[in-house]
Amino acid sequence: MSVQTATSRTEVPEEISAVNLVDTKTYLEHDMDAYWRRLRADHPLYWHPPVDGKPGFWVVSRYADVMALYRDNQRLTSEKGNVLVTLLAGGDSAAGQMLAVTDGRRHKDLRNVMLKAFSPRALSKVAALVRVNARRMIADAVRRGEGDFAAEVASVIPLTTVGGLLGVPVKDHAYLLGLTKSSLSSDEADQAPEEAFLARNEILLYFSDLVAERRADPQDDVITTLTRSEINGVPLTDQDIVFNCYSLILGGDETSRLTMIDSLYTLSREPEQWKRLKEGSVTLESATEETLRWATPAMNFGRTALVDVEIAGGTIKAGDVVTLWNTSANRDESVFDHPYVLDLGRTPNKHITFGYGPHFCLGAYLARVEVKEMLDALRTFTRGVELTGEPRRIHSNLMTGMSTLPVRFLPDEAGLATADS
Ligand code: HEM
Repeated sequence: MSVQTATSRTEVPEEISAVNLVDTKTYLEHDMDAYWRRLRADHPLYWHPPVDGKPGFWVVSRYADVMALYRDNQRLTSEKGNVLVTLLAGGDSAAGQMLAVTDGRRHKDLRNVMLKAFSPRALSKVAALVRVNARRMIADAVRRGEGDFAAEVASVIPLTTVGGLLGVPVKDHAYLLGLTKSSLSSDEADQAPEEAFLARNEILLYFSDLVAERRADPQDDVITTLTRSEINGVPLTDQDIVFNCYSLILGGDETSRLTMIDSLYTLSREPEQWKRLKEGSVTLESATEETLRWATPAMNFGRTALVDVEIAGGTIKAGDVVTLWNTSANRDESVFDHPYVLDLGRTPNKHITFGYGPHFCLGAYLARVEVKEMLDALRTFTRGVELTGEPRRIHSNLMTGMSTLPVRFLPDEAGLATADS
């Protein structure tokens, strides 16, 4: 059996049309590499049929097309949502206030305000904190010998990083981590959608309180900077600040955590690449970029077309939702040599893990620092790592990765001796 796409009118075989990209189970049950290869080759603009009472949407899988659509914030908008859950629900209540779902002049102005808050001074302070944290946590984990790398290291570093930048008190980090973990994805298969909704609301409430505290008692942190920021002479409202704190904590926590977990998992299975990292025959910078390409924790983002857009031999009609698949673009064989091979020395490596264009990830610098410091600490303090059990995968149609990673480290005593220096 085959079905027709909406406007490109190409035949779609059942092995494609049967894959439901909205269902989180799909990503655990299907060979998604084979699926994306097939879409890139034969159906670069594919109409995903409506499922579970939600509207259908376009799926774009080739690197060049994904880039072209990310770049185009004139004919496409993020203001009706940028992730499947809001796009298919018809909108995002933070549109026009939260950076990622704001476009036009307001987006430019807000992005400039946030970039100022991410000043080189603020960033270098946080980067130094990341290095200290990564070295301490990884040295401790290696000394313990065995444990869950996800819970003990990868969960702590990103939240401490964004928390440090925003000025979230350390005593609240564990509470926020519990909430961010169930906001976008779930460790459990059967988490009710209301739970994610409640978790997101609790984060918003938490930041409302913190913004009020910073207005009363200013500190040297991003929230305080935002309370003093204005656009065209108008100060940011509490709600503007709260939405953007929310977006920083969600944007900065889960993605980095999943990348760290994935990279250790991958290194445990790729002894030749681990050797290159350990011996220093690849730079930390290229290893970081390849790790980011390999993990691609944010599988997709999306837009809504404002006018008809011609792409990949078809037409996205005004009003249609289109999804851009980083997961597929980062394995596009027309851009990356042997894309399914991990090569820590890969250059060039123009992966699309952080998106592209006007909404390019605001936290890319920090995320790179986190991954780089993690790789540096691992290669210094350990001779290698072995899995001691099967990791658990997360359930999401936005993010991909693992929520647990049970491992045993082989300590490098000479390296460990430098840990406290
Ligand atoms: C935007 C990925 C880490 C904050 C984005 C986008 C992607 C992305 C793909 C584009 C979304 C779109 O076009 O709709 C990632 C990945 C990360 C990461 C893979 C880690 C490996 C961070 C961190 C922060 C952050 C650490 C904060 C400190 C943001 C913000 C935006 C964004 C605020 C919206 C930018 C805008 O709309 O102008 N991120 N991110 N991200 N990211 Fe990240």
